[in-house]
Amino acid sequence: MSKDKVRIGIIGAGRIGKVHAETLAFRIPEAVTVAIADLNESAAKSLAEHCGISRVERDPGKIINDSEIDAVLICSPTDTHADLIVRAARTGKDIFCEKPIDHSLAKIDLALREVKKCGVKFQIGFNRRFDANFARVRCAVERGEIGTPHLMHIISRDPAPPPISYIKSSGGIFLDMTIHDFDMARFLIGSEVESVYAAGAVRVDPEIGKAGDLDTALIVLHFKNGVIGTIDNSRKAVYGYDQRVEILGSKGAITTENWYPNQAIVSTASAIQRDLPLNFFMDRYTESFVSELKAFVKAVQANALVPVNGDDGRMAVVMGIAARKSYDERRPVLLEEVEATEPLHA
Ligand SMILES: NC(=O)c1ccc[n+]([C@@H]2O[C@H](COP(=O)([O-])OP(=O)(O)OC[C@H]3O[C@@H](n4cnc5c(N)ncnc54)[C@H](O)[C@@H]3O)[C@@H](O)[C@H]2O)c1
Repeated sequence: MSKDKVRIGIIGAGRIGKVHAETLAFRIPEAVTVAIADLNESAAKSLAEHCGISRVERDPGKIINDSEIDAVLICSPTDTHADLIVRAARTGKDIFCEKPIDHSLAKIDLALREVKKCGVKFQIGFNRRFDANFARVRCAVERGEIGTPHLMHIISRDPAPPPISYIKSSGGIFLDMTIHDFDMARFLIGSEVESVYAAGAVRVDPEIGKAGDLDTALIVLHFKNGVIGTIDNSRKAVYGYDQRVEILGSKGAITTENWYPNQAIVSTASAIQRDLPLNFFMDRYTESFVSELKAFVKAVQANALVPVNGDDGRMAVVMGIAARKSYDERRPVLLEEVEATEPLHA
């Protein structure tokens, strides 16, 4: 049975919570945000005012236990996700959760088991699948427009690193940043990855190294269907957010360019120039955030399957753990090694 308006509660009013609250308020009439919770009540309050959300809470439990709410958006830090997923699932709420589900496979498996047991929907926030460029690349591969894919390249560079405080709790570059690219790789090629070989370095900021993380990485993926792929990551590209892919196949190639605020090219006697690309995810991926939430709301309304599920969220974490292991041990790591060594709950 289809619902009139999906009643949503948002947990977390930080960077991504703001993106989703604005999207729901101004772009998705099929849903209404009835409450927002954040430990930092003033952050929740000002976002609520901006987006016309009538109720503000400090305790996310007030949202989870509200029987008038159909679905929750989990936009709080990663280490809070697994517990909130379990609690929300037990009250029968459909769940949209930001990436990654957690840094630990054991906690992910517990949370996803509860989701399954309670029969609620669970969508993970891999918004880039909904980007028009990348969706078109997937479509070309699916239709066989470039024949059989042979090689895949993903370039994914941020304009500037996040604060060191964020880095310290991020789970590291592979689970925080590359995780989007791991999902993109599986999505574009339509095959699982067999092994991951990661080289990494600290080239941007020594403080990132002191925090135990990397800021520069090059990763080679071997897919089960024979495709070879690379992911090229940097926490700092001085010219802005660099988000491109290329796939070479037996009948041709498909490439995507960055998104720019305008299409103007200025040609003079000394140079041909254009403005820099859109600067970061809030600008570059705005439309993909709208499309992913529309898809979630539609799935809740129509009681249909969500387009990106918990298994997708889990698999990207397996790849992230494999990448760190590969960097530490300086060798290619099979994903099945990660499955065999991670302490899974029975
Ligand atoms: N899909 C994307 O492109 C994307 C982009 C950014 C962040 N993220 C993910 O979103 C999550 C949040 O990241 P962010 O950058 O918005 O972080 P943030 O620090 O900007 O915001 C997190 C907010 O959650 C609040 N909070 C902390 N613990 C809470 C709790 N127990 N209950 C309620 N609120 C709580 C904090 O006070 C803060 O306001 C992370 O998992 C991150 O990986 C995804």
